[in-house]
Amino acid sequence: MTQDEQANEPLEFENRHPGKKQMRDEVIAGLMLSQKMIPAKYLYDEKGSILFDQICEVEEYYPTQTEMGILRDNIEEIAELAGPNCLLVEYGSGSGDKTRILLEHLVSPAGYVPIEISKEALLASAKRLTAAYPHICVLPVCADFSQPIKIPSSVNPAGKRLVFFPGSTIGNMLPEEATSFLKRCAKVCGPGGGMLIGVDLKKDTQLLEAAYNDSKGVSAAFALNVLDRFNRELDANFDPQKFGYHSAYNNLEGRIEMGIRSFADQIVKFGHDEIGFAKDEVMFTEFSHKFSLDQWREKANFAGFDITHVWTDAQQLFSVQYMTVQS
Ligand code: AVI
Repeated sequence: MTQDEQANEPLEFENRHPGKKQMRDEVIAGLMLSQKMIPAKYLYDEKGSILFDQICEVEEYYPTQTEMGILRDNIEEIAELAGPNCLLVEYGSGSGDKTRILLEHLVSPAGYVPIEISKEALLASAKRLTAAYPHICVLPVCADFSQPIKIPSSVNPAGKRLVFFPGSTIGNMLPEEATSFLKRCAKVCGPGGGMLIGVDLKKDTQLLEAAYNDSKGVSAAFALNVLDRFNRELDANFDPQKFGYHSAYNNLEGRIEMGIRSFADQIVKFGHDEIGFAKDEVMFTEFSHKFSLDQWREKANFAGFDITHVWTDAQQLFSVQYMTVQS
């Protein structure tokens, strides 16, 4: 089969995407809280995933390029740690661009399991990677990785499991969610397995705030896109003109807080339900926690990992860390 023919083949994948009812229940529950908050995973519909890829390209958003640089600079060592025939499991695989750096250097990987909530992004990247690396067995799973997920096994005999969680997506979880997730990852890695994780570091507030409120307005468009999604999929009637983007660094919590501000007192319908918004009220869409190296070590240790390698860029903006399961 040619590469073009292969790219047009329907791809098999495991679909455990949350249904409409679950989405509606979770969103309404978040909007009933005294501080409104919607689950960040719902930002990633097809358009949201495209906008997120665009964020990764804006000048102010340092994490993507910095992390790619760290991965490229240290890939030989990373591949050696992974060893031959590893099963690569990636949470929140998105476009799969960072994965290519790994797939090009890992020695005869037994398989690649991308796990992603956006079905469109998952299938598009799985197809691209299958075409680019036909010798690698790709086993895509469409799922919400804030819940436990059964990892499909490869037909090839596997060496160790390498869990890849780049982008500092761990920072989007609340501290207790991050700890539970890391504990689940330790189980997925198993004895002898390892986790390669991107961890964004604390830094100058101006630099941080610019990264999450870029001058081209892509960060704003990404957050506000969720209003269109709710209108379309949950029968809501948000007027996009009456809401704007909010983002600021919360020094006490060590996190960028992103949200949507209501420009007026207003009532929004969600099917038969009605939700009131006060003028200037912010509903949070996402947090992005930043860590010091010491804070991260403490967190990883508590969740059952030992950190064996820490790589950073020259300015210490971002880190990539290799962690093994405590015996
Ligand atoms: C996916 N995640 C790591 C991004 C971040 O940096 O927290 C999400 C993001 N949202 C707006 N800009 C970036």
